[in-house]
Amino acid sequence: MAIRFTLNGKPQSVDVSPDMPLLWVLRDTLNMTGTKFGCGMALCGACTVHINGEATRSCITPISRVAGKHVTTIEGLSPDSSHPVQHAWMEVDVPQCGYCQSGQIMSAAALLAKNPHPTDAQIDEAMSGNICRCGTYQQIREAIHRAAAMQGGTKEKSAELEVGAQPAGGAE
Ligand code: FES
Ligand code: FES
Repeated sequence: MAIRFTLNGKPQSVDVSPDMPLLWVLRDTLNMTGTKFGCGMALCGACTVHINGEATRSCITPISRVAGKHVTTIEGLSPDSSHPVQHAWMEVDVPQCGYCQSGQIMSAAALLAKNPHPTDAQIDEAMSGNICRCGTYQQIREAIHRAAAMQGGTKEKSAELEVGAQPAGGAE
């Protein structure tokens, strides 16, 4: 039975087993390889995509769970790498080997959509599930602050992220 959802703003239909992880569908069925496989067990964050705006581990998300929902991958974050997070990532020159970075960017974008000016503690909390074997954590933090400054004027709903963080933090 075909499963229908919206992928990067376009209607998508796939005829696969309902148990198949979204990551498999993206990479193997749809040949969208920007989303990476790391652990397959929700432990590393390499496979992070947005489902209805929430950062989600696609390796443990059965495709049946995305029926009727909006999925965004790194390929659809912006049409031309113009998302503030992508800009900031380039300015700070965050990636080293790059393997974890699409997941990092998707988590950062989801964070900033909810909390346009996160503190260091809020960044650390939101990004704690994204592992980088190259240790780019400081650059990631700096880039998130920079992206926050870039998107500055945009007023977004800053609900959820109520993490008992210290005040201010600020850019390093
Ligand atoms: S591959 Fe999904 S969290 Fe590691
Ligand atoms: S840049 Fe190499 S794993 Fe993160």
